[in-house]
Amino acid sequence: MTQQQHRFDGQHVFVAGGSSGINLGIAVGFAEAGARLAILSRNQDKIDAALAAIRSAGDAAPLGFAADVRSADDVDAAIAAAHEAFGPIDVLVSGAAGNFPAFAKDLSPNGFKAVVDIDLIGSFNVLRAAFERLRKPGASVINISAPQALNPMVAQIHVCAAKAGVDMLTRVLAMEWGPLGIRVNSIVPGPIAETEGMRRLAPSPDARAAVAATVPLQRLGNVEDIAAAARLLSSPDAAYVTGAIVPVDGGWSLGGYASASAALATELARD
Ligand code: NAP
Ligand code: COA
Repeated sequence: MTQQQHRFDGQHVFVAGGSSGINLGIAVGFAEAGARLAILSRNQDKIDAALAAIRSAGDAAPLGFAADVRSADDVDAAIAAAHEAFGPIDVLVSGAAGNFPAFAKDLSPNGFKAVVDIDLIGSFNVLRAAFERLRKPGASVINISAPQALNPMVAQIHVCAAKAGVDMLTRVLAMEWGPLGIRVNSIVPGPIAETEGMRRLAPSPDARAAVAATVPLQRLGNVEDIAAAARLLSSPDAAYVTGAIVPVDGGWSLGGYASASAALATELARD
């Protein structure tokens, strides 16, 4: 049987944190499937480069908004402008995040707060501002979580706390918004090659190879793996899936993740 990819022709896809890495891969994937894209992140140069990539993927006129997810007002203004241009949001992806490795004893209160503010409160700001502008019924909301939400990792207390909170946003909103025909799910990417997140947690090629060896499928993921999962979760094939926390990680969260955490502890202790 030939595999038929679901199309998103003319649909409005809004990606918070869509200017690089995994989230840009998701935006490009939806553009290739016919959607109209709006992205939001802080740095205008990164936004401009991302918009060029999205245009090359088939969306002639994507929108980009320079805003910090920590500003509820700025997020609201950006989403309102996207709604004005493209109409109701069919797919909302909330993936803006910050990360750096730091043991709890070395992390200032403001360092902890910075990550919680971006990942957790920023996600709330995005979800809350989008609610009135989501297509009802029919919208798919995807929060980008992380393995740190499911299992503890050393030097990641801020990220573990923030992303565990993000998964709880997913589950509560699936309950609140389900009756309106809005589905809300989390994707939990595993270790994804060529991303800022991996560069920060496994800076050397040796470290990345060691991580890949702990993945049951024996490779790092790529952004297309996550983009494909985002399209699947937003397609009619997932019409009865909501409130799910979906690892897309080659099986990493089954066990290999724990040894990657131990390796990170050893690496940081050497510094
Ligand atoms: P990335 O390229 O740094 O992506 C982060 C995006 O969020 C960028 O577009 C960034 O652009 C934006 N951003 C950061 N802070 C922001 C803020 N305060 N307001 C608005 N936008 C902000 O990193 P990535 O590694 O691809 O990670 C993407 C997502 O996947 C994150 O949610 C991360 O937690 C998750 N994840 C990554 C991995 C991995 O292996 N890389 C694994 C599991 C989960 P600006 O800096 O210009 O704002
Ligand atoms: N170790 C310990 N603390 C750190 C740190 C590190 N490597 N990097 C930043 N911090 C602390 C800062 O010292 C500061 O705390 P202080 O005021 O007590 O000194 C606090 O975190 C905020 O730092 P600041 O640089 O002002 O934050 P910002 O809002 O400009 O940037 C970050 C947010 C720190 C998360 C930054 O790394 C970022 O913008 N990341 C986005 C990209 C990214 O992380 N991608 C991967 C996603 S998985």
